[in-house]
Amino acid sequence: MTTYETLTLRVHWEDGYFEILDQTRLPQEEVWRECRTHEDAAEAIENLRVRGAPLIGAVAALGVWVAHERGEDVHRAIDRLRRTRPTAYNLFWALKRMERADDPRREAERILREDAETNRKLGDHGADLLPDECTVLTHCNAGALACVDWGTALGVVRSAVFHQDKDVHVIATETRPVQQGARLTCWELTRDGIPVTLIADTAVGYVLASGEVDAVIVGADRIALDGSVANKIGTYQIAVLADRHDVPFYVAAPTSTIDPETETGDDIPIEERPEDEVKTVQGRPIAPEEVKARNPAFDVTPPELIDAIITEQGVVKPDEVADLV
Ligand code: MRU
Repeated sequence: MTTYETLTLRVHWEDGYFEILDQTRLPQEEVWRECRTHEDAAEAIENLRVRGAPLIGAVAALGVWVAHERGEDVHRAIDRLRRTRPTAYNLFWALKRMERADDPRREAERILREDAETNRKLGDHGADLLPDECTVLTHCNAGALACVDWGTALGVVRSAVFHQDKDVHVIATETRPVQQGARLTCWELTRDGIPVTLIADTAVGYVLASGEVDAVIVGADRIALDGSVANKIGTYQIAVLADRHDVPFYVAAPTSTIDPETETGDDIPIEERPEDEVKTVQGRPIAPEEVKARNPAFDVTPPELIDAIITEQGVVKPDEVADLV
């Protein structure tokens, strides 16, 4: 088959280019954008047209493949793509694989195919943890839109609903500043017919205290060897609240998110994004122009707040992740 197509990607293997679903335009419009050079791929990653750790890795791999197809210096392409976003480990994992590959097309194909398979496996492991009828709170978007296919945290929900016939209701946090929860999680779950209710980030404490949530499931951008997890800003405060209210807190991630060279959470580089993302909503100003804003894109949840990490190799305790890599 010459074209490989998922919710997020269309890869035209024989024609040497690929398209991405531009996530900055969702949910209003479904716009596909061509990536014909590694710079197109880098721009798409930097500007969050594609985002989510596994998808960032996959698009970077495709960026290296298109550079190779064009007869360009693959190492320069890799250097450029490495500088796009600092936190998601899957980016560096995928680029390392591409750097070592004799056949960039075959390696990119493998990375894409493996992501889709891995997420189904971890989804099935995670689904076993959920009661037959339950409410799951999730943060940001760790769904099919964040991956090549199926999703991680939402992959667990999909497996529970479609493979185990469970009745799952999702509560999605808005996820300021750029609202991946409202725009993306709500869009993809609605499309699949999975019931979802949107809450403002500020409602998390109220909702967890009410007793209506059976589990929190989030994704991860980088997991350190001590079991600390970097994920979208706001994850840490949800973990603290889940602990306070005895709600299980699970992280769903492929083992490609575990960084074998990062010992602790303190060693994880945290991306600081432009302050405009905080001072605007969908491009509209919401604060005085001269005010300063801070925009850390991720935070770190320590292992003691995490009940389990769900991977394609099985469900483990945070202090067991080092054994998986
Ligand atoms: O800034 P983003 O949208 O790339 O951040 C995404 C997240 O934090 C996700 O939760 C994480 O990458 C896991 S995706 C399966």
